[in-house]
Amino acid sequence: MKPKLLRSLAALRRETSAWRREGLTYAVVPTMGAIHSGHTGLVAAGRERADRVITTIFVNPKQFAANEDLGKYPRDEEGDVRKLGKAGSHAIYLPGPQDMYPQGFSTTVSLAGPAKAGLEDKFRPQFFDGVATVVAKLFIQTGADYAMFGEKDYQQLKVVTRMAKDLDLPIEVIGIPTVREEDGLAKSSRNVYLSKSERQQALAIYRNLVNAADRIRAGVNPQTATRSATRTLMALGFKVDYVSARNAETLAIPQHRDEPMRLIAAAWLGKTRLIDNIPV
Ligand code: PAJ
Repeated sequence: MKPKLLRSLAALRRETSAWRREGLTYAVVPTMGAIHSGHTGLVAAGRERADRVITTIFVNPKQFAANEDLGKYPRDEEGDVRKLGKAGSHAIYLPGPQDMYPQGFSTTVSLAGPAKAGLEDKFRPQFFDGVATVVAKLFIQTGADYAMFGEKDYQQLKVVTRMAKDLDLPIEVIGIPTVREEDGLAKSSRNVYLSKSERQQALAIYRNLVNAADRIRAGVNPQTATRSATRTLMALGFKVDYVSARNAETLAIPQHRDEPMRLIAAAWLGKTRLIDNIPV
């Protein structure tokens, strides 16, 4: 299928109005491009939910700090369009900076709750306000019925779900399980930064999360299990930002053994920052 390319807000609105006139439902899949099977999995899930799927590609400057990888973030429009077409995305919205942040733009969505859990927010302080601002705009611009988000970015999924609820945005946010490489490494646009040996090493994050989850299920204290996962990763050469057991919904530190729990981790391997999470 050849997706329709919508390069401005006006083109987007023409397309979505036509869908509405036909009585069709549609899902949005927000991305920053560098499309891989994690993203196309969201498109497939969107197609199951709705009549039409629109994928958005916008590398959002507001969620990158000055020292982060905005300039070198992988960009491949042609490849992205081909992969999204193959996955069955009906349209692709490729806004320019002027569609998202026209001159004089002065509004930011500011967050609390899961956005202040002391996980990503601790290491990337302006990240979630930047994400929430662009995602709120994408929800409003597209007017979609559903939004598909990956569990890969678990805190982001919870932040966006909370924001849509708090702002009464008429959209249902749906979380989709993480797509992994055959050996278990979570697919990520940033995996291309890894050298061959780092790629081998990277798997240790997932392995240690699985191991910690097994130990917690076997009765080990969550803090003990995550601390020893942290130590193992450090011994393997990772610079660990966090490995933490959290309440799967609120992201607060669990108070009881029977709470639904999620293990969440972020660590640097050389110059690449990797994140992952799994249910307990
Ligand atoms: P990006 O990193 O491109 O991810 C877009 C979507 O794909 C997110 O919902 C993310 O969780 C999901 N995703 C990425 N890798 C995945 C995997 N291995 N399995 C399942 N889903 C995966 O996240 C962003 O962009 C941005 O912050 C965005 C929400 C677009 C706002 O700018």
